[in-house]
Amino acid sequence: MTNPFAYGRVVDAAQYCTRPKLQKALKSMMDAGQNAVLFGERRIGKTSLILHVAKRLRKSRVVYFDFLACHSAADLTERIARGVLETPNRTFFNLALKVFSALKVTATLDPNSGVPSVSMSLQPSSGPEAVNNLETALDRLYTLHQEKPLIAVFDEFQQVLAIPEGAQILARMRSRIQMHASLPYVFSGSIREDMQKIFSDHTSPFYKSALPLEIEAIERPRFDSYLSKRFRESGRMIDPAVFDKIYEMGIEVTGDIQQICWALWICSASGETIGTEKIDQALEQLFAMESRNYEDTVAMLAPSQLKVLKTLAAPPFNGAYSADFKQRSGVLNNQTIKKAIQRLEDLRIIFRVKGIPRISNPYFGLWIKKKL
Ligand SMILES: Nc1ncnc2c1ncn2[C@@H]1O[C@H](COP(=O)(O)OP(=O)(O)O)[C@@H](O)[C@H]1O
Ligand SMILES: [Mg+2]
Repeated sequence: MTNPFAYGRVVDAAQYCTRPKLQKALKSMMDAGQNAVLFGERRIGKTSLILHVAKRLRKSRVVYFDFLACHSAADLTERIARGVLETPNRTFFNLALKVFSALKVTATLDPNSGVPSVSMSLQPSSGPEAVNNLETALDRLYTLHQEKPLIAVFDEFQQVLAIPEGAQILARMRSRIQMHASLPYVFSGSIREDMQKIFSDHTSPFYKSALPLEIEAIERPRFDSYLSKRFRESGRMIDPAVFDKIYEMGIEVTGDIQQICWALWICSASGETIGTEKIDQALEQLFAMESRNYEDTVAMLAPSQLKVLKTLAAPPFNGAYSADFKQRSGVLNNQTIKKAIQRLEDLRIIFRVKGIPRISNPYFGLWIKKKL
């Protein structure tokens, strides 16, 4: 039997736990042609929610663009063209190819499988012409929408800020998108500070350009019973105390909870009732899979950064500049602590919740606490 728990990727219909309030809110925004922006940390379920709702709209087709690892205007343009063309629908593909021909894309459909293969390499990658190309791509998207109603999803949108000419790109994108009144755009991103810079800062061109939707973890009773059912259907029972323990350990994000359920499932046999004593074994299972990555990450850090990280991994403490934190970390200088936190944040190892640093991946935190 295959493991019924999946983590780290978008969940498909069979694995999706319904989120009625959020689905309703997002659907009504999409139906109204209203732009939306989703805020919520990594693995909380933003992409899964967006795609779940968008795929169920009868009148529009969702075109999905993930901007992760885009480093230039040309990368963004390419993502948009690919996102449109890599659709398995033949009629739509032909239409999209015609509409996007201005961008010199080469795209073919495999005659047997019908799978599209798109090749393009836009030059130049930056500068005025590259930004013009991006505008063209956005306008072509709108042309396509006029032929066939679309919903455009821009995921991990904060990545635009990481592009050297990001500010200019945002301004130009906004001016195009503003013209596309009937086309709903959904923006999403996991790095809250950056997403807020784009959508909540009054000097940003995207200020108040989309209705905000906060995505929290799936509420407990619903998620507990969803997970219990998945255990039950795959021949295992789970003691509800296991969930209490998981949350107590600070594992509270949707995808992180799925991950430990995945490990608990691996460590148990059909017919078994899983109790709290299984948790350590499940964690060891996760560490065995992830420790290479963890070790590589730790190896990138300077000694003072590692000391700060180790202390952050062992809460509670009274703020990162408190006497208590300094004593435990052995890093006494405020400036050194500040720099270490900044570097850990740049590496996405930690993020801040209302100014307080927190380790992004709880398993990495537990591993540090246990092994270092
Ligand atoms: N509605 C859901 N039902 C069940 N699991 C979910 C749901 N949404 C998210 N997850 C879990 O969280 C993981 C990450 O989901 P994803 O949508 O990629 O999050 P995000 O886009 O916020 O990073 C999924 O692999 C899955 O384990
Ligand atoms: Mg996502």
